[in-house]
Amino acid sequence: MTLGSASSGFGLNFDTADYPAGLGAIYNPFSWWNVRILILSDIHANLQALEASLEAAPVYDFVVNLGDVVGYGANPNEVVKISRGLGSTFVRGNHDKAASGISDARDFNPVAAAAIRWTGETLSAENLAWLRELPKGPARVEGEAEIQLVHGSPRDEDEYVMYEQEAHAILDAVKVTATFFGHTHVQGAFASNEGPARFIPPVYKDARNIGTFEFELQPGKKYLINPGSIGQPRDGDWRAAFLVFDSSSKVATFYRVPYDVKSAQGNILAAKLPERLAARLAEGR
Ligand SMILES: [Fe+2]
Repeated sequence: MTLGSASSGFGLNFDTADYPAGLGAIYNPFSWWNVRILILSDIHANLQALEASLEAAPVYDFVVNLGDVVGYGANPNEVVKISRGLGSTFVRGNHDKAASGISDARDFNPVAAAAIRWTGETLSAENLAWLRELPKGPARVEGEAEIQLVHGSPRDEDEYVMYEQEAHAILDAVKVTATFFGHTHVQGAFASNEGPARFIPPVYKDARNIGTFEFELQPGKKYLINPGSIGQPRDGDWRAAFLVFDSSSKVATFYRVPYDVKSAQGNILAAKLPERLAARLAEGR
């Protein structure tokens, strides 16, 4: 298996983990045509879900990561290593902050706090130092003036944007077309509207196989777009979630990818992390 690979769909495979971050575009023979951004969020140390997602991802030019690389899952060092190899554009998540000691886990429920303690003890000194340096959002991407990246929301990195009312207030204030956010682990998009913002959930043909849902941004509207969570989805779909945004055609393609949940659960139980963290993966809750 090739991790961190950008496959062209024409039989070419480039192992971007072998190259410095940001060079992926050079190895994409179609990079002059469209710019495709692979957007990952809330991996939460779930190695199996991350590997399956990268295998299923289409050709892309570069990767951005919306935070919560660690927390909950049992493979934080492996997931940090792969994530670092994929690119250098990150915003930090609340679990990244808590695991690396930037914030305490006071606001976390007991299960999440137990996982944060274990994660902090398990991460290598180098990976802890790397997590500590992750930037606070919003982050911008060079050459992509119409997008910004946040973990929670542009006004508060720890805010959960769950409802149309708060999405409306945020969309009213933002200047860019597309704000990509994570944190809620719910895949979908809020679109600006005359009245309250409208939530558009992706619709998939079935709940077992790899699924895609294309969503085209309309001129004159603004969007809050959540790729969903790779490592701990909470929208009722257990499959790993991410998206690819084509900034030329303005199409966001949402993905759901089945992965070896049993193996991820086995790692959680073997690490003596709370059993609930294993059980919920199968439920997508
Ligand atoms: Fe998260």
